[in-house]
Amino acid sequence: MFPYQKLPNKFEKEIETLTQNVIEHPALKNSFYDRWMKSSLSIKQFEIFAINYFARVSKTPDRLTSIFISIPDYQSRQIIMHNLNDEMGNGYNDAVHVGLLHHWLDDLHKKIGGRGMEYILENHQPTDETLLSLKKIKSLSEKNAPSAAGILLGQEATGLFQIEYLYEGFRNYKDLYAPGEFNDVAAYHHVHLGLIEKSHVKGARIIAARNSPNQKDFGMMSDAYKIYLESVANSWSSVSREINMLSSKDLKK
Ligand SMILES: [Fe+2]
Repeated sequence: MFPYQKLPNKFEKEIETLTQNVIEHPALKNSFYDRWMKSSLSIKQFEIFAINYFARVSKTPDRLTSIFISIPDYQSRQIIMHNLNDEMGNGYNDAVHVGLLHHWLDDLHKKIGGRGMEYILENHQPTDETLLSLKKIKSLSEKNAPSAAGILLGQEATGLFQIEYLYEGFRNYKDLYAPGEFNDVAAYHHVHLGLIEKSHVKGARIIAARNSPNQKDFGMMSDAYKIYLESVANSWSSVSREINMLSSKDLKK
């Protein structure tokens, strides 16, 4: 059958229910965000956060590409393509999201006295939990259409809040920046906090519905969604654990 077909969308209500309490999930409600929003991190604490967050989020374009390949439905693919195009800066080199993220982390690390992202990437490894979460998410993105749709739904349902919380905590460092400079460095947050990101959430819901034509597929889609959230929660809790394990000597650095 030509893959541009009319699909039933019969689980739209269930999909809304699945995502409606996402802010209560430990993927978003966790001790790392609490700490991050309350006060500034030390250099060493920041390095643990940066290596794990960058490892996870820098995989977004690869993940979207796998999801695109796993979902044959053309209308879903158009939405994914749009999302990927935003990630890649709509053709503008300076607007590639991974580049903006790297710039933000690099600049902030240097502002608090560190040596920047190249140093962090060369000298730190993500935690086992972060690596495992990447492995699980990758394999579900490649598995089949419902699972790939569930991963996308997890990514987009948490994405906007994730950036909101990171921006909120970044404000703790505002005094380190000259007037006007802070918002330039916060370009990573600004590109995500507008209507574009909201359209990604809407798109992910449509894709989840289009790729859950029956109860079995809906089950696979919602399982993948839950595994995505669980994996992200595990990654954050490992970041908190590593931060808590730093000695008081390290905290002064
Ligand atoms: Fe992005």
